Amino acid sequence: MRQTTLLTGTSDPSIDIDFAEYLQAKFPLDERSLNPQVRALLVRSLQGRPEIRGLDLGTGTGAMLRRLIEWGLTDNLVLTGLDLQPELLDKVGTIIEGLLRDRGFVVPREQPPWQAERAGQIVVLNLHTSELVDYHPYQPNFDLITAQAFMDIVPLEDTLRQVQGWLKPGGLFYATLNYDGATQLFPSFREVAFEARLLANYDQSMERRRVDGKPTGGSHSGARLLAALLDGGFELLGYGSSDWNMTPERGLYRDQDAICLQAILECIRKEGAAAGGFSDSELNHWFLDRLERIRCGHLGLIVHQLDILAGRK
Ligand SMILES: C[S@@+](CC[C@H](N)C(=O)[O-])C[C@H]1O[C@@H](n2cnc3c(N)ncnc32)[C@H](O)[C@@H]1O
Repeated sequence: MRQTTLLTGTSDPSIDIDFAEYLQAKFPLDERSLNPQVRALLVRSLQGRPEIRGLDLGTGTGAMLRRLIEWGLTDNLVLTGLDLQPELLDKVGTIIEGLLRDRGFVVPREQPPWQAERAGQIVVLNLHTSELVDYHPYQPNFDLITAQAFMDIVPLEDTLRQVQGWLKPGGLFYATLNYDGATQLFPSFREVAFEARLLANYDQSMERRRVDGKPTGGSHSGARLLAALLDGGFELLGYGSSDWNMTPERGLYRDQDAICLQAILECIRKEGAAAGGFSDSELNHWFLDRLERIRCGHLGLIVHQLDILAGRK
């Protein structure tokens, strides 16, 4: 944890954690949090297929693409990652290349798309910089579409129509870490009502979000996605909770949880500042108190999320 740079003690204690750094820091947290039963169901459904064509929506630094490689599902993995931020996709190429080289694959020294090979096995990597609405896959016949921490920021019905159009019949949609309306901090701030109002504003900020004038999955993306899948003609195969538990063990945080915690506190603070109704001094007071609790290894954060596996009928 970088408390020396973070606990500034100035009148503006904001934290500048780079988004890519945050995504990388949350990888082990996500690994611990993914619902094991839903993940096992996905792996069982895919294992042994001669080829798997997978598309990851809002891939960020490629967390889900990494997993699909690590799970060793097939000898022919054709992966596509989509994100609107080209600088994140640059990192995906480097990360996946390193992962495959470590596993003995021969990877061409060029930007994706490329094909990596190892004793009869191939992994193809395609990366597309695009807004989801503007994306038109060249071959819309995926076996698997994944979306991690993504459905809260896009309009659900429109996205599901795209997913349905791009999956083969029987293809799978695996949507993970869908926020579902509960962010809890332990112990509460001493001004309990202030923190409750601030956390409620954090959820409301997700509800206020619009993409092309349409609401997104928002602060109840898990429950809403589940309902929209049923209404949208998908078969619901399995679902379960994938809560983030960023709680200290004997005063120490696991993996890079302290960075994730600070990044989320910063988001909550920023949303409070953007909404109005919270003074800078109140917000800073709250924020510095919470950071000090992290420094002491006391603060815990639990975020309720759902993982869902559905099939195209
Ligand atoms: C919360 S991050 C999750 C990243 C990754 N799936 C993970 O869990 O580590 C959401 C990602 O979606 C991308 N994104 C947001 N809106 C998008 C859109 N409309 N089209 C494509 N990508 C989008 C962002 O750039 C960001 O990388």
